[in-house]
Amino acid sequence: YSLIHDDMPCMDNDDMRRGKPANHKVYGEDMALLAGDGLLTKAFETVLSAEMDPLRVIQGAQILAECAGAEGMVGGQCIDLRTGDGDHSLQTLQMMDMGKTVALISAACRMGCTAAGAVQEQLQAAEKYASGIGMAFQIRDDVLDVLGDAEKLGKNTGADCKQEKVNYVTLLGPQRAQILVESYTAEALEALQNFSGDTAFLKELARTLAGRET
Ligand code: IPE
Ligand code: MG
Ligand code: MG
Ligand code: MG
Repeated sequence: YSLIHDDMPCMDNDDMRRGKPANHKVYGEDMALLAGDGLLTKAFETVLSAEMDPLRVIQGAQILAECAGAEGMVGGQCIDLRTGDGDHSLQTLQMMDMGKTVALISAACRMGCTAAGAVQEQLQAAEKYASGIGMAFQIRDDVLDVLGDAEKLGKNTGADCKQEKVNYVTLLGPQRAQILVESYTAEALEALQNFSGDTAFLKELARTLAGRET
C-alpha cells in the first residue's frame, strides 16, 4: 500500500516498481488510491483475525496502528514530501527515515515478539534491530538512487535528484552515506545479542541489506 501510494503522481511520480509499471500506470490513479486503501485495511483485518491470545492480538493491532500512522510511516512520508522546502538538518532526515521506513519494519519485529510473548528487554532489542536495518535500508535506497542500476533495481534511478529531494546522500554524498549504512547495520547486529535463539537469518538479512544492489 505504502509503495503504491508513494509512486503516485501526487507523491514521487514514479512509473516503475519491481520491474513493472507502477500500479497507477496500469490501473489508473483512482484504482491505485483504492488499492492502497484496501491493502491498508486488509492489514488490520489480518491482524485482528489471528488465532491467538486476544490480548496479544490487540497489542499487535495497536503497534501496527501506531507505526503505520501519522507518528510513523505516514508522518515520515509527510516530511519526505517537504524536505525541499528548507529544513536540511540531519535530525530532520533521521526523523523522516525513522518514520517512512523504520516504523513499519519496527512494527513487523515488535508484532512478532508480542505474538511470541517477549519480555520488555526483548521488545527493546527488536526495536533496536529494526531501527538499525531500517535506517540502513533507506540510506542504501538513497545511495542506489544515485549509484544503482535501474535494470537490477526494477525502478528508475535519479528520481530523488529529479524531485529535488533531500536525503543522506544529497547531504553527505554516497560514500559517506554508505559508511552510515555500515554503522547502522553494526547496531542491528549488536541488538541481536539480546536473543538466545537462532538469529542466523536475521544476521544474514542485516548483512545482505547493507550491500544490496537490487
Ligand atoms: C518510500 O521511500 C518509503 C515508503 C513507501 C514508506 P522512497 O520513496 O525512497 O522509496 P522508492 O525509492 O520509491 O522505492
Ligand atoms: Mg517516497
Ligand atoms: Mg518513492
Ligand atoms: Mg528512494
